[in-house]
Amino acid sequence: MATRSVTITDNVSGKSVECPVHVGEYGAPVIDIKNLYKELGMFTFDIGYASTASCRSAITYLDGEEGVLLHRGYPIEQLAEKSSFLEVSYLLVNGELPNAAQLDDWTHSIKMHSMTHEHLSRFYQGYRYDAHPMSVLAGVCAAVASYYHSTTDIYNPEHRLMTAKRIIAKMPNLVSKTYRYQSGLPFVYPDNSREYVENFMYMMFSWPTEPYVANPVALRAMNLLLILHADHEQNASTSTVRLAGSAESNPYACVSAGIATLWGKAHGGANEAVIEMLQEIGDVKNIRKFVDRAKDKNDNVRLMGFGHRVYKNYDPRAKIIRQACHDLLDSMNLDQPMFEIAMELERIALEDEYFISRKLYPNVDFYSGLIYQALNIPTSMFTPMFALARSAGWIAQWMEMLGDGDFRIGRPRQLYIGAKQRDYVAVAQRK
Ligand code: SDX
Repeated sequence: MATRSVTITDNVSGKSVECPVHVGEYGAPVIDIKNLYKELGMFTFDIGYASTASCRSAITYLDGEEGVLLHRGYPIEQLAEKSSFLEVSYLLVNGELPNAAQLDDWTHSIKMHSMTHEHLSRFYQGYRYDAHPMSVLAGVCAAVASYYHSTTDIYNPEHRLMTAKRIIAKMPNLVSKTYRYQSGLPFVYPDNSREYVENFMYMMFSWPTEPYVANPVALRAMNLLLILHADHEQNASTSTVRLAGSAESNPYACVSAGIATLWGKAHGGANEAVIEMLQEIGDVKNIRKFVDRAKDKNDNVRLMGFGHRVYKNYDPRAKIIRQACHDLLDSMNLDQPMFEIAMELERIALEDEYFISRKLYPNVDFYSGLIYQALNIPTSMFTPMFALARSAGWIAQWMEMLGDGDFRIGRPRQLYIGAKQRDYVAVAQRK
């Protein structure tokens, strides 16, 4: 069958270029424009890369119209119900669900790398007591690079897999220390007799004076949230990790760059911003006024936790989290007034023409903060939780890129709209 292609013609010069079209397993085919500049002397223009495929990937597939999310072909609904975050991290990194022996080996290996160099604990002391945890996490993650720089050959597949295990193993340690430093609590070493998520909650919330007994309901909720946040195709933070990695940077520094990107409230920082928004609304009777502000172009208020670059349907993760939130609050017999406000806000927004016409639905961040709150996690720690989960996806995507034979340094072009060439004028001659 003839190779599918599209022809782009410049109606001024009359020149044309035939661009091959690549078709994937699912999703929109892509136009390969590598000869565009050579043939037409032009670049494409796509602010925010809304219509640009930056890579080939086999890790995650999203269908924004249908609200579908697959990890290595497995629907997020099934992974959320049947899997564990540690097993999903194996799936993202290795491409297949592990058999029992592989899962045991992965679990053991992650446990054996959960410690960080003792000196790393000193990095936290440099931060103000009230520093935002994402500032701390980005810094200490970059600091981890200093312990594994000379011994990591990014072109060695074994070294890449070791790096993935270290990141997945150490992130709970880094995140819990970030929380404990802020709370004035002593750091807690990992306890490898505990399962991954329980070990994380132990490092976060245990007291040196009391035995720590994990709440199984909280463990299930945390495990679910980590699964739902693990990877999400080429989102802003993942694209940052890939771009930094394409320059052959240290992978721990690449993950630090991902953390810095995720911090933004348009991205992972939205879960924190949703709670702040619900607190600002304060009461169901104020919802309509707030929604009107979010619709007003002259007001930079947006409905946090709503809208998505890809999902033009309900984010499947939000659906799962909404139900889990409901169940958790019921099971913990918690009266969460903000959950009522969130549900009423969702109802009002989903009936409003502004949101309907723009296909703005709740995204993963809309309800996740309410679960974190129920788990007594402070609002400023919501995005570090997101980073803990997404570090599995980031490092899987980094590995995939490094293992892709024709990967090259990312280097976008631009449309220059600056000054024409002009000569330097001595300061005495300037007006
Ligand atoms: C995440 O990419 C990923 O996969 C991200 C993520 C992941 O797992 O990695 O899913 C995690 O980041 C989820 C998104 C979290 N962010 C928020 O909840 C912040 C609030 N949402 C928005 O800022 C916005 O919806 C974005 C950033 C998520 C998407 O922005 P886009 O795709 O660039 O959309 P847009 O700005 O072009 O909006 C289209 C229209 C605009 O109005 P018009 O100019 O057409 O009149 O919709 C409006 C926007 O003003 N709009 C909103 C809105 N989101 C978009 N209006 C009010 N409230 C909102 N939340």
